[in-house]
Formats: sequence, structure tokens, C-alpha cells
Amino acid sequence: MSNATGTSTRIDITPLAGEIGAVISGVAAAAPPDDETIAQVRQALLEHKVIFLRDQRLDYPTQVAFARRFGPLTLGHPTLASPPGQPLLEEIDSSKGVRANNWHTDVTFLDRPPAFTLLRAVVIPPVGGDTIWANTVTAYDSLPDELRDLADRLRIVHTNAYDYAAVTGREERADPVLAEKRREFVSTVYQTEHPAVRVHPETGERSLLLGGFARTIDGYGPQASRDLIRILQDHITRPEHTVRWQWRVGDLAIWDNRATQHYAIFDYGTAHRRGERVTVAGPVPVGVDGRPSVPLTGEASAYYAGAA
Ligand SMILES: [Fe+2]
Repeated sequence: MSNATGTSTRIDITPLAGEIGAVISGVAAAAPPDDETIAQVRQALLEHKVIFLRDQRLDYPTQVAFARRFGPLTLGHPTLASPPGQPLLEEIDSSKGVRANNWHTDVTFLDRPPAFTLLRAVVIPPVGGDTIWANTVTAYDSLPDELRDLADRLRIVHTNAYDYAAVTGREERADPVLAEKRREFVSTVYQTEHPAVRVHPETGERSLLLGGFARTIDGYGPQASRDLIRILQDHITRPEHTVRWQWRVGDLAIWDNRATQHYAIFDYGTAHRRGERVTVAGPVPVGVDGRPSVPLTGEASAYYAGAA
């Protein structure tokens, strides 16, 4: 914030792991912060990929207002209904069948996945329910040369109709809330072809664009697609590329969805866990050869129409 001499307060940044994640202090998201503070937060976000702000007193209007400082917003989700009167919110609520316990980048089944996700912890289990993020830039940079050259040329089809949405376990099949949520998740099927490596529009960094919605590689059969995606995914999610966050109520996590994957650990049984998520619209990804992502199936203009 500016004082009488025109200088600004620097935010405090404490890195959490070697490759990704930092705690930011000195920012009250609801205040609202001045433009210089927002610029510092954005810079920290681009550098550390996921940042955490403790003890934030946010509600829906103030979370939305803070998120808008980083760009136009999307609707809460392309297929999942938002709470009444809160169209820009997605509820990540265990009691409503939302878990997200697989590795993914948000909404990559569309041709414009969000740039940033802002997730606020509202209810946290007594133990468990941590989230892990992986840095897809350092993952790319540390690939063996031959694999990196190959990845640069791959195009991968992402869809919401598999994995994340699948009813996979016996308990899940027996849980009608979970089964209904997963039906809603695939109520419109989307497919998008993305480059396996995208060039970040703000930093110029190259990152791997895969995650749980990545299904088939252009020019490869189903078995080879699965095997090659598995090799790249295993590399991305190596512990060296990750940070793990133990939530407290009031925490706000913000991640660069163009440079990360994440996994919400489901280890809290029937305990309640609720997060509230708002997303900043992102551009169409572009590969190292300059080719953009291509939407194949599904109409998503309404999702971006919330971008006011
Ligand atoms: Fe997510």
C-alpha cells in the first residue's frame, strides 16, 4: 500500500518447497489491496505456481471481487450447477459428492482452461484432506532430452467423460450422491485437442499439459496413448516437483492452472470437507510450434459468458 512518500509495502513470500509453493503474508484479500500489492501477488504466483494466504476473511462477493483483480472470471463450472445466486462459484464439497482425488489441471477438457484458480477453505476435516500441487514447468525442464523433444510434438485429446467422472470403486457405486454428481459432471461431453507442451503466455516457460482428462495421443492407439501419458504423468507427479498443503479454515490458495496439476487427498472418510472455488478465464493454449488447442466436441460459450 502506498504511504505519503509514495513507497509501497512489500508482501512477504516464504517458499515451502524447492520447486513450488509459497506462503504470502501481508495481504488482506478482502481489504481490498491496492494495484501494486496485486501486481506483487501476481508476480509471486507466476514464480511459485501456487501461493497460500492464511486467515482470510472472505465470502462469495469478496472472493469474486479479489479474483477479478487477476482477470475476467468464468462461471463456476462448465457442467456442475453453482449454488443459487452464486453463478461464479464451484462448491468442492464432500457432502455433495465432489472429491477431485486424482491428478488434474482444472477444466482441460475445454479449449480455454482457467488461468488461475482461487480456492477458499470453508470446512476442513479434523485430520486429512490435504491438497498436493505439482509444478509442470520444472517437470518439463527435467525430462530426459529425448522425451522432451518427443513431448514438444505430441497433441493430446482431453475429455471430461473419463477418469475423474468415472464411478470406479465399489463404495462409490453404492453412494448415490457421488454417482449423481458424476452423472452431472458428464451431462455435456467435451473434447479438446491440446499440445502436450504449452508455452506460458506470461512467462514464456514451457510446461506439460496433461492430467486426468488427457486420454489419447494423436497418432497413437489406446494402449500406447495410455502408456506414454502414464510415463509423462509419473514424471510430473514425482515428489520433487510437488508441495503439500495442510488446510486451515480461512486459507486461500491461488494456483497458476497453466503451470500446475493438483490432487485433493481423500483420506477423511465421512468427515465434511468444503472448499469454494472461483476461476479466472485463461487463453487458448499454444504449443511450441505455435499451434493452438482445438475444441473438438461440446459448446462452452456460456462458461466464459460469466467473464464480466
Ligand atoms: Fe481441481
